[in-house]
Amino acid sequence: MEQIRKGQRLILFPLPFQGHINPMLELANVLHFRGFSITIIHTNFNSLNPSTHPHFTFHSIPDGLSETETSTKDPVLLISCLNAHCCDPFRNCLANLLSDDGSEEPIACLITDALFYFTKSVAKSLKLPRMLLRTGSATSTIVYAVFPLLWEKGYLPKQESQLEEPVVDLSPLKVKDLPMMNSCDPQGYYQLLIQMVKEIKTADGIIFNTFEDLEEQALATFRQEFPIPVFPIGPFHKWFSTSYSSSLLSEDESCISWLNTQAPKSVVYVSFGSTAAVNEAQFLEIAWGLANTNQAFLWVVRPGLIQGSEWLEKLPQGYLEALDGKGHIVKWAPQKKVLAHPAVGLFWTHNGWNSTLESISEGVPMVCMPHFADQMVNARYVSDVWRVGLQLENGIKRDEIEKTIQKLMAEKEGEEIKDEMSMLKEKTNLSLREGGSSYQSLDGLVNHILSL
Ligand code: UDX
Repeated sequence: MEQIRKGQRLILFPLPFQGHINPMLELANVLHFRGFSITIIHTNFNSLNPSTHPHFTFHSIPDGLSETETSTKDPVLLISCLNAHCCDPFRNCLANLLSDDGSEEPIACLITDALFYFTKSVAKSLKLPRMLLRTGSATSTIVYAVFPLLWEKGYLPKQESQLEEPVVDLSPLKVKDLPMMNSCDPQGYYQLLIQMVKEIKTADGIIFNTFEDLEEQALATFRQEFPIPVFPIGPFHKWFSTSYSSSLLSEDESCISWLNTQAPKSVVYVSFGSTAAVNEAQFLEIAWGLANTNQAFLWVVRPGLIQGSEWLEKLPQGYLEALDGKGHIVKWAPQKKVLAHPAVGLFWTHNGWNSTLESISEGVPMVCMPHFADQMVNARYVSDVWRVGLQLENGIKRDEIEKTIQKLMAEKEGEEIKDEMSMLKEKTNLSLREGGSSYQSLDGLVNHILSL
């Protein structure tokens, strides 16, 4: 697929969170293999390691965050601060790159995370075309686009008494599935998303990490609502076989040697992504739920996952020993390699969009336990639209955990879900093959960038 397209450089600017860095660097790889040179601008906060991608050029900018801002548990506040503080340093960095007198190739365009809305005015003032990467699904983006309507109709902010009600015109979403965050003020979240949606309309195009067959309806609606070119070219990470890590935490490779000792499709892989947290009681329900299934499991307990704990100190004494080798716990896993491993039969996930898509790409059915924001929309689609997983609908309780895992691993309902998942995996593969929708869309994207 690699083509020589000397003389074209792209500048990419990821939002500095794991779930946004991974797809942006994967997209950079896809475009690099199509012949573009790549420059990544990144913030000091959650700074990237250039040695993981020696084929790119990296520039770091100061983000101006105070200590209180970097340690906040409110991601909306953090994103708003980044938008406010990064403007000048980003403009200076970009202006320097543009004025570079010929030592680097001319810059074709800027690709930024859609949540970096401040970049619109910077790109405009420097007369640089600006495209967006939306790291979430097309479906959740549509939900954000109708936020004002949902507010007007009284679905938002959510009322306890309405949680199980269906949302008219957004079937099969229920009120409880609408994206919100408990850790921040609903108005602040609303304003951030409204700002993102507004700026999408003025971009020179948008790239989604999805594919037509997966989100046909949402993509069609998006095209109706947003008069800009749309490029669903996912799943990004399946375009190339080399694995480049962009993990902020170090990946524990012991996962793979441990998986090598397990029977095919016998292991439950458990991970709740980079941000979600549980309290001590929930953590213990998860631990006992897993142990009671008597199924082998690989569990990512990220430092910070358990509120008020460093790491595993809240596990009951003797818990690990009693598992007799059936459980393996790490701080961070090489997730894409884990999901592709033949021993993995099930993924218990928080349904961040990357995790959801990575699971679909490898045909691994899911237990869904969404925590916040778009994760609830993704989980509803996994369980009720694509039918490739089951949700824990009644909170985190050991009996339900055990029953759900059992259903998926050993019962008829699980067999049907596995069949659906195999078909969806096949559709994923087809979309990337010559003539497939993502393949064609990538050609379209390359031509579009060259025409800007
Ligand atoms: C966040 C939000 O939670 C999510 O709703 C939004 O869609 C993107 O941003 P995050 O919690 O980081 O996502 O989850 P996810 O989108 O699944 O991304 C996590 C990434 O980290 C994945 O690419 C996954 O492969 C990787 N990962 C996770 C690892 O490499 N190792 C791990 O142990 C866990």
